[in-house]
Amino acid sequence: MKKIQIAIDGPAGAGKSTIAKIVAEALRFTYIDTGAMYRAVTYKAMKENIQLHDAEAIEKMLQQTAITLQPSEQGQLVFVDGQDVSQAIRSNEVTANVSEVAAHANIREILVAMQQKLAADGGVVMDGRDIATHVLKDAELKIYMSATVEERAHRRFLDNERRGIPSTIESLQKEIALRDKLDSEREASPLIQAEDALFLDTTNLSIDEAAQEILKLAQQKM
Ligand code: C5P
Repeated sequence: MKKIQIAIDGPAGAGKSTIAKIVAEALRFTYIDTGAMYRAVTYKAMKENIQLHDAEAIEKMLQQTAITLQPSEQGQLVFVDGQDVSQAIRSNEVTANVSEVAAHANIREILVAMQQKLAADGGVVMDGRDIATHVLKDAELKIYMSATVEERAHRRFLDNERRGIPSTIESLQKEIALRDKLDSEREASPLIQAEDALFLDTTNLSIDEAAQEILKLAQQKM
């Protein structure tokens, strides 16, 4: 069987990471959560009190930072300079600021190069915002996953509850809508459906149904 690249893009809370993890596990592929990398950079910049609009300062910091991803039972662990930040990068503070950092073209350039290296041998399921349009333009399977903002906020709420992160549906709906706006209106690699990506609306699909749909499409490419 061919070790293909599967690119999954879409707005916040569409179910990308949950579904991508299941698909990767079923195919014995590596799952790569690129959002975690932007979150890791944001986390460290905030910790070091770097102004988040200062793209040059963040780049300087990033050049002296080791970001590593490690597959785990839960999907993927993220380390910044050897410290496990997998939980910390999901905080409300990082979530509220990550889109500002991700809008910097110089930061994207560095992270995209890392992502392309990680996917070079194939056998990967990578999720993010610009995977099909920029990172893995030649991916054999490209999915653009979405769901209504109400459904996405509801899912995030349940997810936060599980993780012990306090939130309300109303605030999540606002946060998600704002993040979508920032991510789709930025100049550098905005969130957009690639021309050759298949649209998957997960509003009325269970996690398993969505995963099965992608697995079916993947099998046709392998
Ligand atoms: O996927 P997740 O919601 O964790 O991503 C966090 C943020 O990282 C997004 O809102 C977006 O600003 C940024 N991101 C990006 N490009 C990617 C993945 C994530 O700009 N490929």
